[in-house]
Amino acid sequence: MVDVRDAAKALAGAGRVVVFTGAGISAESGVPTFRDALTGLWERFDAQALATPQAFEDDPDLVWGWYEWRRSLALRVRPNPGHEAVAAIERHAPHTVVITQNVDDLHEQAGSTAPIHLHGSLFTPRCAACSGPAEPSRQPEPEEGRRLAPPRCGHCGGPVRPGVVWFGEALPVEPLESAVQAATECDVLLTIGTSGLVYPAADIPVVAARFGATVIQVNPQPTPLDEVAAINLPGTAATVLPALVEAAWPPS
Ligand code: APR
Repeated sequence: MVDVRDAAKALAGAGRVVVFTGAGISAESGVPTFRDALTGLWERFDAQALATPQAFEDDPDLVWGWYEWRRSLALRVRPNPGHEAVAAIERHAPHTVVITQNVDDLHEQAGSTAPIHLHGSLFTPRCAACSGPAEPSRQPEPEEGRRLAPPRCGHCGGPVRPGVVWFGEALPVEPLESAVQAATECDVLLTIGTSGLVYPAADIPVVAARFGATVIQVNPQPTPLDEVAAINLPGTAATVLPALVEAAWPPS
């Protein structure tokens, strides 16, 4: 495990750390990644085909039902040792910025203070017409999923849509700017559980490397970021990250 020791040394010695996460960090909490096959009502569909403005326009009940099912799942699941290790990094290295592509709130639940959500959140629906905020539901959804008509906006009567970034949509400006700035300033960037295929988010580790940061990757599978990472730690978030934190800041 020489690589874990090298990674731990880089992490413990870093002034500024960026933790960049994707769906893989939530996989061991029971949230399927975008590469996993869908189940129940959604099994005939591809996650990437449901996450588009066109899909919502063509079949709003199907897409809203899928997001409500995901919101309901996100309310049931709990952070795993990977999320907890990220929160521990923030405690040990106070200049840490957490950037996530995930729309769940498992980083917050684990104690991360202000993760930057590049792709929005399951808990901030808004009007598709006037962009006015809408109240997120707390209602549990059936496990197999269901079609569900989107609620209507209280201001203009337009359909409510999920507060997430769909394929083909621009990322929210402020989170993206903060993320790029953190990437240019950090000494170590830890990229965890992302396929590195979806842009512009996938550029964040590339920017960090270009500005001189040591990029450390945690992923059980090869990704395009293997090329960018100085240290690759093959394995799952919930196994590798606690070991990395313990090696970086051994318990006294
Ligand atoms: N621990 C760490 N990594 C894991 C684990 C695990 N337990 N399980 C799977 N992975 C890895 C996979 O090997 C894969 O590389 O997580 C990655 C998940 O890839 P994606 O599903 O593509 O997720 P992500 O990279 O977050 O997707 C980016 O695409 O669909 C859009 O907006 C959506 O934010 C999402 C974006």
